[in-house]
Amino acid sequence: MKEVRRYLRTLRGHRGPLLRTLCLMAGILGLLLYLTRHHHELHSTKPLYFVSIGDYGAGNATQQAVADQLAKTVGEYGVQFILTLGDNFYSRGVTSLEDPIWQKRFEAVYHHPSLQVPWYITLGDHDHRGNVSAQLLYTERSERWHLPSPYYLQQVALSEERHLDIVVTDSIALEGALAVGPKERRFFNDYTQQWVDAQAGKAHLDWLEATLANSTADWCIVAGHRPAKTAADRDRFRGDFALMEVLPPLLSRHSVDAYLSGHDHVGQHFEEGHVQFLGNGLGGYKTHVVSADASALWVETGFNGFLLHKVTNKELTSSFIDSEGRTRYTTKILSQSKRRAKQAGLRFI
Ligand SMILES: *[C@@H]1O[C@H](CO)[C@@H](O)[C@H](O)[C@H]1NC(C)=O
Ligand SMILES: *[C@@H]1O[C@H](CO)[C@@H](O)[C@H](O)[C@H]1NC(C)=O
Ligand SMILES: *[C@@H]1O[C@H](CO)[C@@H](O)[C@H](O)[C@H]1NC(C)=O
Repeated sequence: MKEVRRYLRTLRGHRGPLLRTLCLMAGILGLLLYLTRHHHELHSTKPLYFVSIGDYGAGNATQQAVADQLAKTVGEYGVQFILTLGDNFYSRGVTSLEDPIWQKRFEAVYHHPSLQVPWYITLGDHDHRGNVSAQLLYTERSERWHLPSPYYLQQVALSEERHLDIVVTDSIALEGALAVGPKERRFFNDYTQQWVDAQAGKAHLDWLEATLANSTADWCIVAGHRPAKTAADRDRFRGDFALMEVLPPLLSRHSVDAYLSGHDHVGQHFEEGHVQFLGNGLGGYKTHVVSADASALWVETGFNGFLLHKVTNKELTSSFIDSEGRTRYTTKILSQSKRRAKQAGLRFI
């Protein structure tokens, strides 16, 4: 009897610590389960890769060398889509859907199996010298060419709840909104008025403001042929300068993460406010010279290539890859999504 009482006393004495241990173990188990379940959210979503390539439609060995490396990189990283930055066809776009240039400078050049992914297309000034309607209509004919209208929003899912907005602009149409005369716009006489006049320009600018204001995606990337900042030394028109004045504050006001451009055949990186400006008109044409520009974070010319972008929920990493597969420059930026969420929250209060 004494033994039993003593035994019961020991049990009672241990009950507290025993319960505490059990609770602690349950707690740890719960935390582990939570961490396993929400692993992706707490750490990082599976990265999404895409590439951007500009100014490529030269139809010669340079374009092909970049295309061959593009195919390798796209295959290696499991790149989901390709974003073009304009000048898809030199020197006067395409004449129609039946133009043999479609075969010669697109289908035959980018024939590789890995390149049979969506191509989100941007128009350049050389494209506007030809038949813009035919480049739009090719969207219906092709499995991969995607240009539903001269400018458009492409939403891409990173995971169930995370998104990337790609806002494709038409720089040449935007010029129409900037009150510059015909002589102050490059190739103006070659353009089809419907796409580039003041009315088209105003409609595009209004759409751009509304689309950016409405974007609640985790990442917002804007693509346009013309640079918003540049260190390339080349002929420029007043229309080019006007766009460079309008774009940076507009993109900054809407917390855009990055602006990707072509037109200037150099690799370049600028930053203003929280916006990164990456210039990449290196897809197949002769490169331009650069002027000393102290405000550039990086600028390099004399090579051809493209940009590889890696997107996670936290970081956007962009690397300039040349036609030999060498990485020339890499930049990594952090998501502005916290600020975005705050803005969205404020809007609903
Ligand atoms: C543009 O291309 C479309 C599609 O091939 C064709 O129907 C149209 O006639 C072309 N326009 C001009 C001005 O050549
Ligand atoms: C705003 O964004 C939502 C969600 O992406 C979309 O459904 C809606 O059509 C957009 N509105 C405008 C005016 O762009
Ligand atoms: C390809 O064409 C561009 C533009 O005419 C030229 O600058 C470049 O040197 C050409 N490359 C080759 C390999 O012919």
